[in-house]
Amino acid sequence: MSDGRRVSKAVIPVAGLGTRFLPATKAIPKEMLPVVDKPAIQYVVEEAVSAGLSDVLMVTGRNKGALEDHFDRSWELEQALEAKGDEFRLERVRDAAVLADVHYVRQGDPKGLGHAVLCAARHVGDEAFAVLLGDDLIDARDTLLETMLEVRAEHGGSVIALLEVPADQVQLYGCAAVDPADQGSDVVRVTGLVEKPAPQEAPSNLALIGRYVLDPAVFEVLRRTGPGRGGEIQLTDALQELAGMPAEDGGGVHGVVFRGRRYDTGDRLSYLQAVVQLAEGHPEFGKEFAEWLRSRT
Ligand code: UTP
Repeated sequence: MSDGRRVSKAVIPVAGLGTRFLPATKAIPKEMLPVVDKPAIQYVVEEAVSAGLSDVLMVTGRNKGALEDHFDRSWELEQALEAKGDEFRLERVRDAAVLADVHYVRQGDPKGLGHAVLCAARHVGDEAFAVLLGDDLIDARDTLLETMLEVRAEHGGSVIALLEVPADQVQLYGCAAVDPADQGSDVVRVTGLVEKPAPQEAPSNLALIGRYVLDPAVFEVLRRTGPGRGGEIQLTDALQELAGMPAEDGGGVHGVVFRGRRYDTGDRLSYLQAVVQLAEGHPEFGKEFAEWLRSRT
């Protein structure tokens, strides 16, 4: 295990094909789809930064231009807003550009989430790091990533985020086998993992959601991980191996059972639900929007 347990880098894979959202994602990555008034990816970067991770590496594929533009200054736009005296929007346009120190690496061929994480190896080096997926948005009032970083600091190894889901939904996620938690604790030791199991083969109803804190030992494991489910190099398969490795080699996986507010933006229906939930809580028009929604039923 790397001796420094401090985590400073976040990796955000955005190189998937986003097939479930086609044609909306033909020319932009799905992480650029707006959730109320910001692209999903901005919520994720904000979450990383508020957990203290301001070095952000995006693993990009085709169509990365929109992402780079979003996290860069836009002089033309800023000048136009300045000329209009629109300070409010000016601030919002600049926000994304100054939020974090954003780097990019290309995945080339989208061979799966595990392969996307492996593309971060050079930038990350021999340090533990976080991985955040834009398919899951965590409410800014809940502190999942901070808790995961604390668990890493205490136990070393890797840490995954788990969500209790109804038994018939486990097949949509990676699923964890765990030792029973101590009374009142939401931290569990993970003994095994399986990607999208059939309901009768699922070891629990604990589903993986898109937050990870990974020991750098994951890179070596990913280098020898072959294609798994769907022909893709699966991060879940590498985690399964890490769970069985000794702590002195960077092994060991803990899980944090998340009981806060999570918005799933991974498919069209849940994306629409996430947009409605977040719009209802919007400080400017949430109340009006909620009243309008109620008036329709
Ligand atoms: P998904 O499994 O949701 O795949 O990837 P996808 O391609 O984005 O979407 P669909 O299923 O075709 O609609 C989970 C995360 O991993 C990234 C995606 O960008 C997403 O954040 N990913 C996936 C990569 O970066 N590279 C890959 O090769 C695969």
